[in-house]
Amino acid sequence: MPVSRREFLEKSAAVAAAGFVPRLPEAFDLTSHPIGIGSGPLVLPSRARPCVVSSSNGIRGVKVAFDRIVAGEDPLDAVIAGVNIQELDPDDQSVGLGGLPNEEGVVQLDASCMHGPTRRAGSVAAIEDIATPSLVAKAVMDYTDHIMLVGAGAKKFAKAMGFKEQNLLTDKTRQDWLRWKARLNANDAWLDHDDDVKIKFTTGTINMNAVTATGDLASVTTTSGMAWKVPGRIGDSPIIGAGQYCDNLVGAAGSTGRGEANIKTCASFLIVEFMRGGLAPQAACLKALERVVAMTETRLMGPNGRPKFDLEFYAVAKDGTFGGATLYSGGKFAVCDERGARLEEAAFLLRR
Ligand code: GLY
Repeated sequence: MPVSRREFLEKSAAVAAAGFVPRLPEAFDLTSHPIGIGSGPLVLPSRARPCVVSSSNGIRGVKVAFDRIVAGEDPLDAVIAGVNIQELDPDDQSVGLGGLPNEEGVVQLDASCMHGPTRRAGSVAAIEDIATPSLVAKAVMDYTDHIMLVGAGAKKFAKAMGFKEQNLLTDKTRQDWLRWKARLNANDAWLDHDDDVKIKFTTGTINMNAVTATGDLASVTTTSGMAWKVPGRIGDSPIIGAGQYCDNLVGAAGSTGRGEANIKTCASFLIVEFMRGGLAPQAACLKALERVVAMTETRLMGPNGRPKFDLEFYAVAKDGTFGGATLYSGGKFAVCDERGARLEEAAFLLRR
């Protein structure tokens, strides 16, 4: 049910290598899942198990989103409410307020979303001074004939829609940025100071996906992107099919981690397509990671022929089955279903 611009504003105001052959971990048996590989097209369930899946930083948000979908709220509104918690948390340095800035000390945010029942999508990239780009992405979806707005145009649109302009650089992120800058030398090489301050580098992000009891799906991803990035750099998060993807007939998927590796594989779309072909969510995430490794350029391969970065995928199918997988072992993802909110071990492609 479409909402009026006024209703939207009121609601929004309430939240503010060559030769490398990737192998599956010995412990993971793709054929053990009930759906299995190559068992044909997904059979649509008449009812689904409601479920919300996200990156681990969404542990608070999955509970909020789950409670909302169980209460009958639209799945996209629910997951956006879930990620708003991180966007507005100044201590989460990977997203929204307090997100780490670009090399000039400016916070530039990316976000995108998809609404399964209506097959619509919205996105903003490199938007400044607006803490909740996920809501701006939804506003692009709801109130324009477009899907993606970037930079100054995205900010102008957000302000016209009533979003509050604010400085997103906190004292802490400003200090981190100054310390990072202090490590640059005249030749633009990085000095390695022996101090006790850890300079953060992050491609952290939050992705959240949900399915309701009636099998309706939604997905959202929001981020401050790669820390210290070149101004104007856009990652995978605002790219429909990379940062997140949702098809109401099949499932939803999303990503965190090195966006450049994900953009080349459109992995969220790929995961949904693997699920359409019959793979379970976790198996689909692992298979997409195989593609990421196969598409990795030599300069990003370590001496052992393994990627020097990490990437994480999360997925939920229309029947409420879910999964998460990371390139390297040790990752977790957040989930909330009838068993409550919890972190689960992610499957992995390569042992750390
Ligand atoms: N995945 C977030 C980014 O690379 O921007």
